[in-house]
Amino acid sequence: MMPHGKLSKLPTHLAIIMDGNGRWAKARMLQRIIGHQRGVETVKKVVEECSNLGIRYLTLFAFSAENWFRPKTEVKALMLLLKHYIIAETRRMVEDNIRFQIIGNRSELPVDVLHYLDEASRLTAGNSGMILTLALSYGARQEIAAASKRIAVEVAAGRLSPEEITEESFARYLDTTNLPDPDFLIRTSGEMRISNFLLWQLAYTELYFTEKNWPDFDRDELIKALVHFQSRERRFGKTSDQVKGRV
Ligand code: FPP
Repeated sequence: MMPHGKLSKLPTHLAIIMDGNGRWAKARMLQRIIGHQRGVETVKKVVEECSNLGIRYLTLFAFSAENWFRPKTEVKALMLLLKHYIIAETRRMVEDNIRFQIIGNRSELPVDVLHYLDEASRLTAGNSGMILTLALSYGARQEIAAASKRIAVEVAAGRLSPEEITEESFARYLDTTNLPDPDFLIRTSGEMRISNFLLWQLAYTELYFTEKNWPDFDRDELIKALVHFQSRERRFGKTSDQVKGRV
């Protein structure tokens, strides 16, 4: 097991694209849903580990706006898994001082699932520890279009002038308004795509891809990724010397 005593520079906001549940199951001749079930176990472990490590914000891509087009049985099973997960984990989040929230198109989620998600958000709203955000029925282009629409309404109503639209003010209309931009993104299963996740917010984020499928992503893999993050130099368009304060 890898020690994490040297994890001095943690990402403030870690975002994860959890991918490869289906392939994990297929490789074992199991149904896809078994892969998702194992994926939920990984979610529980990663949430606990990140909270223990002191990561301030963890955002997980749990269901994309495009995932609705999967076979009905799989969508239904994923929603059921989500419901069971949130019912089972809310108390632990309360105890572990984790604040829970969702982003995405909430109007598309089944009402019973939404009820438990809102309950979890309400019961953990006063917590001061890690903010856990689940992206559900989420698509970044939809998010940006919706933000633009809200801004247009404000301008049309005379409450906002076009000059007031800046990067900072625009970001306040996004779903992630209470979150800093992620400084580290992990995607599992070897795919090297962003897949319509946090397009605006990932502008300067360090990207990390691992071949491991999500059900196989364990504590050691997380620590390995975080150690890798420590070695990356974030320059934000400046030169290496500028960042190191040599000029
Ligand atoms: C990708 O695997 C995973 C998803 C569709 C979403 C992740 C879902 C979970 C971890 C389970 C539910 C989540 C919570 C928080 C309860 P895939 O099906 O795309 O895998 P594949 O690309 O190998 O087919």
